[in-house]
Amino acid sequence: MERHNDIEIIEDGKVISRIVKGAHLDGIFPLLAPYGKIFVVHDSSVSPIAEKVSSYLEESFPAKFGGIVSIEATEKSKNIDTVLDICSFLLENKADRNSLVLGIGGGITTDMTGFAASVYKRGVHFAFIPTTLLSQVDAAIGGKTGVNFLHFKNMLGVIRQPDFTFLCPEPLETLSERDFVSGSAEMLKTFILDNGPEDNWYGQACSVLEKIHSHKDGISTYSKELLPLIFAAASVKAGVVSRDQFEKGERRLLNLGHTFAHAIEHLASNATEGKGITHGEAVAMGIVLAAELSSSLGISEAELPERLKEDFEKVGLPYECPFTLEAMKDAMSIDKKAEGNIIHFILPEKIGHALIKDLTVEEAIDLISKHTFDI
Ligand code: GLY
Repeated sequence: MERHNDIEIIEDGKVISRIVKGAHLDGIFPLLAPYGKIFVVHDSSVSPIAEKVSSYLEESFPAKFGGIVSIEATEKSKNIDTVLDICSFLLENKADRNSLVLGIGGGITTDMTGFAASVYKRGVHFAFIPTTLLSQVDAAIGGKTGVNFLHFKNMLGVIRQPDFTFLCPEPLETLSERDFVSGSAEMLKTFILDNGPEDNWYGQACSVLEKIHSHKDGISTYSKELLPLIFAAASVKAGVVSRDQFEKGERRLLNLGHTFAHAIEHLASNATEGKGITHGEAVAMGIVLAAELSSSLGISEAELPERLKEDFEKVGLPYECPFTLEAMKDAMSIDKKAEGNIIHFILPEKIGHALIKDLTVEEAIDLISKHTFDI
């Protein structure tokens, strides 16, 4: 079936994954026609959404409904045991190569569901309904799947594409304000990398996110403004993944702020009470540190770090890193993307453009300290 409005991820001229937009959850049903049985794997905290999808399937296409299982979707439970639980559920319910495993939840759920579906019977079809802003614009697109292992984030996994990712604003209405705002960091990150054909996606996103943050009258009021921006961010990511699926070069840009963010999350998870930091919040702090590094090297406009701080403040994102640069140094050295002592730092030049610069952790920290000292 030709689907002209979808975003496509392309490999060697072939569509390997689609991103499909719908105003409501029922927009997913036509997409399920080509498959045998559908198996729903969902985060226990989005049960009402998963049950809505499952009940519709059970009532309208009883022969297609394979079963539903809920998982705990936390960084702690993001491990191989949960993936094996999903595989047991698939095996017990006789999922086969015509089945579709449908992951419903945020990035932790889609990462684990995609990994389980990629190894079960050496790979069955899978698709996602991401329910957080963060997973809609980032985690559920591009095929990175996996789990944490020992003390390392996402250390086991594969890159394998979902057949489709269904983007719909309806699940966002159930998010806490903090989770919604956290996700906005990945949306703004994407537009800092690519600001669209008219150079205005970042500005539009800041203005819609600021309205949602300050008016607090529900996301549904802004769905019409938000969905095109979610789709725009997804299209940027799909383009990058089509050009560099296995992260040999350009895809690294999507890690803007993430070397710092992973160190912040690592330190926060070891810290005592009061420093709980979400991934999106850490990404916002990491982007500001990356901008300070960039400014210190004379790569970015000098005002960029301050502009980002002002914008992040308006949309409700924290940007001050609560840890010292010295403490960050050790945590950054264990980044799994490091090659020897070298890390590929992503440095924003201006809104809409960033570049990759290889530095040691020590060089980066010294440069940021110098920037902080100079201002
Ligand atoms: N989250 C960055 C990537 O998918 O490459």
